[in-house]
Amino acid sequence: MNQNKKKESAAKKALELIKTYLHKESVLGIGTGSTTNLFIKSFLEAEIEIKGVVCSSLASENLFKGSSHHVLSLNDVYGIDFYIDGADEFNERLELIKGGGAALTREKILAHSSNKFFCIVDDSKKVDKLGKFPLPIEVIEIARSAISREVLKMGAKPVFRQSITTDNGNQIIDVHNLNLDVPYDIEEKINNIPGVVENGIFAKRKADKIILSTDKDVQIIE
Ligand code: A5P
Repeated sequence: MNQNKKKESAAKKALELIKTYLHKESVLGIGTGSTTNLFIKSFLEAEIEIKGVVCSSLASENLFKGSSHHVLSLNDVYGIDFYIDGADEFNERLELIKGGGAALTREKILAHSSNKFFCIVDDSKKVDKLGKFPLPIEVIEIARSAISREVLKMGAKPVFRQSITTDNGNQIIDVHNLNLDVPYDIEEKINNIPGVVENGIFAKRKADKIILSTDKDVQIIE
């Protein structure tokens, strides 16, 4: 099965799992990326009436234009019932690296505000240990070099992602070769560097379920 088909299967499974719980007052959190885009497609086709969606990026918001769904601000709701999003890596403890699409800060805010976070992935995202995928860090522009020096002190290699400005108007550093033996500690340590807005380790608020699509089937890891 090709990767896109696998992404589609994971997205459809997520919708199947949540749809009986959705009702007129439900708020659905929507992530960012190609797997999430396939979830949005299935969700729009299903014509389920909910209160609205809160999206982690302008790109995802745009996919709801012209639909009957209200795009809400997180400020306008008490919380999110289900947050659906992809990941760049996950481990067996349901910890993640996210931010390949530069939306990590809003993604982490939505994940933190959600009752249930279901992560939809294909089997290329599974790792024994996080860190093969370079860790994205969103930074305030004037702090970029200072933060890069702190990252070098940690024995890792920072690379400025020159092509992108985030939806929050900030920059991204991708960190290679970072030791992520204890993701929870590194998540906290990096976020304590002045000028870091957020980093892409999701260990403090990890996924509640990984919906994993393989060649054979779709598995639920929890
Ligand atoms: C966006 O910033 C990321 O966190 C995405 O969720 C992640 O990159 C997964 O994207 P794909 O579904 O496109 O693989």
